[in-house]
Amino acid sequence: MAEGLSLKNITKRFGNFTALNHVSFDIKPGEFVTLLGPSGCGKTTLLRIIAGFLEPDEGEVWFGDQKMNDVPPHKRNTAMCFQSYALFPHKTVYENIRFGLRMRKVPASQHRALVEEAMAMVNLTGLENRKPYELSGGQQQRVALARSVVVRPNILLFDEPLSNLDAKLREKVRVEIRDLQRKLGITAIYVTHDQSEALAISDTIISMNQGAIIQKSDPRTIYDRPVSKFIADFIGTANLVPCTVTRQQGSLFQVQSPYGMLLAEDKDFPHDSGEYYLCIRPEDVRPVLDGEPAGEDNILEGVVKNSIYMGNTLDLFARVQTEPLRASVWKDYHIEEGTRIRFAVPRSKIRILEG
Ligand SMILES: Nc1ncnc2c1ncn2[C@@H]1O[C@H](COP(=O)(O)OP(=O)(O)OP(=O)(O)O)[C@@H](O)[C@H]1O
Ligand SMILES: [Mg+2]
Repeated sequence: MAEGLSLKNITKRFGNFTALNHVSFDIKPGEFVTLLGPSGCGKTTLLRIIAGFLEPDEGEVWFGDQKMNDVPPHKRNTAMCFQSYALFPHKTVYENIRFGLRMRKVPASQHRALVEEAMAMVNLTGLENRKPYELSGGQQQRVALARSVVVRPNILLFDEPLSNLDAKLREKVRVEIRDLQRKLGITAIYVTHDQSEALAISDTIISMNQGAIIQKSDPRTIYDRPVSKFIADFIGTANLVPCTVTRQQGSLFQVQSPYGMLLAEDKDFPHDSGEYYLCIRPEDVRPVLDGEPAGEDNILEGVVKNSIYMGNTLDLFARVQTEPLRASVWKDYHIEEGTRIRFAVPRSKIRILEG
């Protein structure tokens, strides 16, 4: 059964260093939540506190309506799945998966059925007698996954489970993880520093930096409406330049920037900040071909310095005034390096962000 989870004001220090600083959030039963952030921001520390392997210095951990601070790890009914898999090298697949059942003192008579069911869920049927070294990386990852789900946890914790796999396999296995989590209806907390993985797999993304939460949103919101320059830069690619607001009328802003004077329509404008940045995603920049009307869009004039064919897009690295501007445009355009060009950016696609 899925269980919701609440962290209330969690602080964790290692000596003088504060690894987590007043972290609070709620997760609904059955939700798939990703913790996303740069190396060292506290993701693993947070998972370990949820699982009970580490005690917070301050704050409370709640599963549903039960406070868990004093509940030992083996009584929390969470399971953890790691990047390193942590499989026993000399045990078979079957024994590796059964391990968790023995740890939890599940009666031996139930083991075979439970292990076989878990193996079927992750497409490992037929491989029960192999040893880990006789499996591919993807298969080893599935054994680790089966070992986590066989104990029927309420909350499944993943710490970068796919980082040892190549890009194609990561995409495949992440869909399998997502399907399995839905099928079992388990609450999942998934750590990654791969932003595309986070966007693809999550109901909710919690973006962290230096032990604090910066934004908690669904993938679309975090990408389209990042709350700060840090998030816009960390998730996806963004043209980010400092700017000054020179006029405001409702949600319409006139801003001065290294790209020139631009108009932006932004209902989420952060009024309390002193320092502002313009954010323009490369895919929102469009070349204006000769004679084509730009309508109300902003026009940025520049020179294409590099033109790179990516297969699915053509990526232009241009210079507008003194500032670099990246544009991802239709792949069938032929735009040579050195071309003088006008780019259009819709008002609604320009975000004004805090620094
Ligand atoms: N046992 C420990 N003793 C001292 N410092 C620690 C300990 N565990 C973690 N830290 C520090 O706390 C910070 C957060 O570590 P954590 O492992 O949570 O980062 P992370 O976000 O998981 O990073 P990565 O993406 O590299 O795995 C780091 O600066 C780390 O050096
Ligand atoms: Mg980590």
